[in-house]
Order: sequence, then C-alpha cells, then structure tokens
Amino acid sequence: MVTRRSSRSTGLLEELAPDVERLLNRHLEAPRLWYPHEQIDWGAGAPFADRPWAPTDYPLPDGVRSSIYVNLLTEDNLPYYTTTLSRLSSPTHPIADWNHQWTMEENRHAMVMRDWVHISRCIDPVLLEDGRRVQMFQAMVPAPETFADLICYVALQERATQVAHRNTAAHLPKEDKIGRNLLGLVAGDETKHYLFYRDLTLAGFAIDPSLMMVAAAKQVSAFAMPGTGIPGFTRHAVRIAKEGIYGLTQFARDVLDPVLTLWDVNHLEDLTPDAERARIDLTAVVAKLSASVERLAAKASRPALI
Ligand SMILES: [Fe+2]
Ligand SMILES: [Fe+2]
Repeated sequence: MVTRRSSRSTGLLEELAPDVERLLNRHLEAPRLWYPHEQIDWGAGAPFADRPWAPTDYPLPDGVRSSIYVNLLTEDNLPYYTTTLSRLSSPTHPIADWNHQWTMEENRHAMVMRDWVHISRCIDPVLLEDGRRVQMFQAMVPAPETFADLICYVALQERATQVAHRNTAAHLPKEDKIGRNLLGLVAGDETKHYLFYRDLTLAGFAIDPSLMMVAAAKQVSAFAMPGTGIPGFTRHAVRIAKEGIYGLTQFARDVLDPVLTLWDVNHLEDLTPDAERARIDLTAVVAKLSASVERLAAKASRPALI
C-alpha cells in the first residue's frame, strides 16, 4: 500500500534524498562480507596452454552455458551502469554514495564468476573473452531518460538478475558445490540491491504517483534483460528460456508480479490524465504477457508429436 506524501516543488531526485540516505544506511547495517578468493578451489585448475578447453571438461546443457555466459558479461558491463546513474543524478546527492557502494559490490560478481569459470572450465574461455571485448567496446546499456525511469528499470533489473543467478545455480550439477554456492552469494547481493531500488521506487510513488506511474508503465512495457551488445544474445536468450532459467514465464511470475503488487498500481488515486493512460497501458501489457505465459505453459504440457 502506497501512502501519499506531500509533494514539494523540487524534483523527484531532490525529494528522494532522505529516502536514499535511509535505504543506504539500512543496506550498510547488514553487510554481506564475502571474499571472492575464498570461494574458489584453486588447486582444481589446469593451465589452458597444456590442456585447451573442451566441452567435455564440464558437461552442461547449452542453456546453462548460455546463462553463465550472458550473466557474467552483464556483470562485466557494470562501468556503463555506473555512468548512467551518475548522468541522471548529481555528485553532491546521497545517491552518489549509493552508486559507489553498488559499483563496489557489483564489481566482485564478475571477478568471482570469471575465476570459477576458468578453474571449473564450465564455459569456453575464448568465447567468453571474445564476447567481453565486443560487448564492452560497444558500451551499450539501457538508457532511461529520467531518474524515475531509471529507478523503475533498475528495480526490475536487480530482481531479474537475482532470479537469473539463483536459477542458474539450481541448474548446475549437485557435485559442483563451489559453483552453486558462489552463484548463491551473487544472487544474495542482487537481493539486497533489489530491496534498495524497490523501496526507493515505493518512496517515489508516495511523493509523485503520476510521475512514477508513467515511468513504471514505460519501463515495464520496454523491459528486456540487458544484453543487446552481447554477441549472439538472442540465440542465448532463447536457450536460457528453454532451459527454464529465465524467460517470459520467470519475468511475469517472479519479477513483475511481486514488483507491481508492491507498487499497488491498481489503487493509486488522483492520477493525472497521462498517468491514468499509462495505467491502462500497463494493465494491457500485463494482460498480454499473462496470455503469452499461459500459451507457453499449454504448449509445454502438450505431449510431443513423434
Ligand atoms: Fe551483479
Ligand atoms: Fe545488483
């Protein structure tokens, strides 16, 4: 339930300053201290010069390999997300402290995942490095226009990232305790990031529900997992969805549903005409998505024709 707060004449970013401070302090009061180097069994590695990578080094379904590849490259792309948040805020606003903290935490995800990938040989290191060079050179990340757009997008994205890492961990072989544990640690960090942005958007709805409604509708209808700069992204995304790790079903059920329930968009009052139209658009997008998810489920439950 969103409780309306009085709106002053300053912009949303300024009005959210006390909430940013509150949520950053909450985040810092529950530190998640873990060390990337302690998560790896270094003795299990072998030089690639002596033994080049082969798929038999670590048998895995293609969809799981694709998920590790896409998730890791997304973490690599972090510097450009930091830039986006800086561009839409100000260095003297408390969000700058959050941006630094967030960047510092996200940075270890790529480090620990790459260490594990190289030691365990779960994906092709040449494919990974080629993908990193191509993706990072393009410097492509979603570019929200306003601060309201940004926090709506990142709330959805952090939740989606949490789900993607968690489900990838669950698809690893049981005997890879290190990989499962390490992706679980990463997913745990993403949970905390999600809580920060989720509650910041909630504070935004309390200040200016119309502005946030328009931003939310825009971001939900355009939402896609980041990855357009990754070579072969569409092919990988299809494999990941087919594997049941992350696709339309997970987006609708595990990302959108909890976020929209919390924003309570159906019960917002006193919206501007633009925001009312955005609410109608959002409802239509959600209905279309539900229909697609139902069609996918019906297709999956039909016996295969030989
Ligand atoms: Fe991350
Ligand atoms: Fe995150």
